[in-house]
Amino acid sequence: MSTARPAAVVVLAAGEGTRMKSATPKVLHEIGGRSLLGHAMQTARAVDPQHLVVVVRHGRDRVAPHVTEVDPDAVVADQDDTPGTGRAVQCGLAALPEPLEGTVVVTYGDVPLLQPDTLTELVTVHERDGNAVTVVTAEVADPTGYGRVVRGPGGDVLAIVEQKDADETQRAVREINSGIYAFDAATLTEALKKVGTDNAQGEMYLTDVLALARDAGGRVAAHTIDDVWQTEGVNDRVQLARMGAELNRRLLEQHMRAGVTVIDPSTTWVDVQVELGRDVVLQPSTQLQGETRIEDGATVGPDTTLCDVVVGEGAHVVRTHGSEARIGAGANVGPFTYLRPGTVLGEDGKIGAFVETKNAQIGKGSKVPHLSYVGDADIGEGSNIGAATVFVNYDGVAKHHTSIGSHVRVGSDSMLVAPLTIGDGAYTAAGSVIVDDVPPGAMAVARGRQRNVEGWVQRRRAGTPAALAAERALAAQQAQQTERPEPQQTEDQPHAEQQDPSKGEHTE
Ligand code: UD1
Ligand code: CA
Repeated sequence: MSTARPAAVVVLAAGEGTRMKSATPKVLHEIGGRSLLGHAMQTARAVDPQHLVVVVRHGRDRVAPHVTEVDPDAVVADQDDTPGTGRAVQCGLAALPEPLEGTVVVTYGDVPLLQPDTLTELVTVHERDGNAVTVVTAEVADPTGYGRVVRGPGGDVLAIVEQKDADETQRAVREINSGIYAFDAATLTEALKKVGTDNAQGEMYLTDVLALARDAGGRVAAHTIDDVWQTEGVNDRVQLARMGAELNRRLLEQHMRAGVTVIDPSTTWVDVQVELGRDVVLQPSTQLQGETRIEDGATVGPDTTLCDVVVGEGAHVVRTHGSEARIGAGANVGPFTYLRPGTVLGEDGKIGAFVETKNAQIGKGSKVPHLSYVGDADIGEGSNIGAATVFVNYDGVAKHHTSIGSHVRVGSDSMLVAPLTIGDGAYTAAGSVIVDDVPPGAMAVARGRQRNVEGWVQRRRAGTPAALAAERALAAQQAQQTERPEPQQTEDQPHAEQQDPSKGEHTE
């Protein structure tokens, strides 16, 4: 389709939205991780207008900056005290350089599912047929509240009549005005000068432009669409949820058609900006938010929420809550894992069960498998952090960094008190509080040596189940020794390696 650039798209967003019952202006409420107005502006921009104008009034202090944030080139126009969609468009046009020539498209800031293709089609039909006005209409089951399309005997569009101004015959019409239009700029400007406020609501109705354009000899036509969702506005939070669910359903359908497996679409939620590779599998109860990207063949879920997270090819992320993190290809995360901002896990690495990470770069093949906190740290490649290790990064006033080399083995239940550096290939003994740097290849031990006080339980806890169990065990040992004075050492009963602190220190 070759269509000239529309002169402008005017997005109306000055209304109050009282039915939302919210401190937040209606058009700033979100579905799919984007404001209603953001959706409307995205669609408007997609038809490449020379000017994109957003008309604001209620909640201006928050809506206007949002407009600029979404699209720095958009023009913010203020509506004055005169109410109505007609006045809103007039105020929008007043913000543009004169004379405006060509096609002006009008849309609403609270209609989030309108698609660029629909607008392109509207403009194409409008220009092809040389219309003065083309209005997007739809047949709905319940037209209550909408403006009705009044057609002549030959099917010509004569006018739009608002619900409150309509007679009984007009109210029975099920073809409604969506509020989306293409206008010839000159016709629109001239007609708006004649629009008054003599109606049930005392407002300047944009819909009056249709009859005025006809009177001036212009062609007025309807462009009817079947996909009613695209014309639906959000007025309250019930509609907000309904539209959000429909948007999600549509997004998931697109992803599935592009090669993503979604096990349970009804419990899977994706934001508009989420990118999913081929053969990605989304397990039930997965929410992917913001600019999350899941690369080919990765599996996410069940029960996982990721916001602005990148998951590399073939990685598995199970029962995880994460934000602003990067997971390398082939890596494993979860279950029950909390990834905080700045977490970067290398290829084939692992962040396992009940582990929290923050601002932590964990190298290729390195593992933090169980019950640990890793904060403000970098870890080289192929290192293993034993279960229940804590990176003690906070001294009560400031945060400090820990640097761990490659192929390091940190013993279970270690406290690594930052600032700290552990060199390549070093080991630490389980249960150590490591406060000093460990050179490459060293074994750091920082704990009291074990002392066994023999017979303590039988003496001090005499008669308890513990004491009785100990007595039985010792008696059995003695009996065995009398039977076999020189007991054989088997593999199951190794010598206690009292001097080697690495014994049983590590978990993988
Ligand atoms: C309007 C149409 C109606 C149509 C319906 C579709 C008119 C007179 N009526 O009805 O035919 O079926 O939309 O949803 O146009 N707005 C402003 N400034 C205003 C008033 C509204 O910017 O002074 C904006 C609102 O923020 C909203 C849009 O225009 O985005 C529509 O306003 P709303 O009050 O919902 O229009 P309706 O009266 O329901
Ligand atoms: Ca409305």
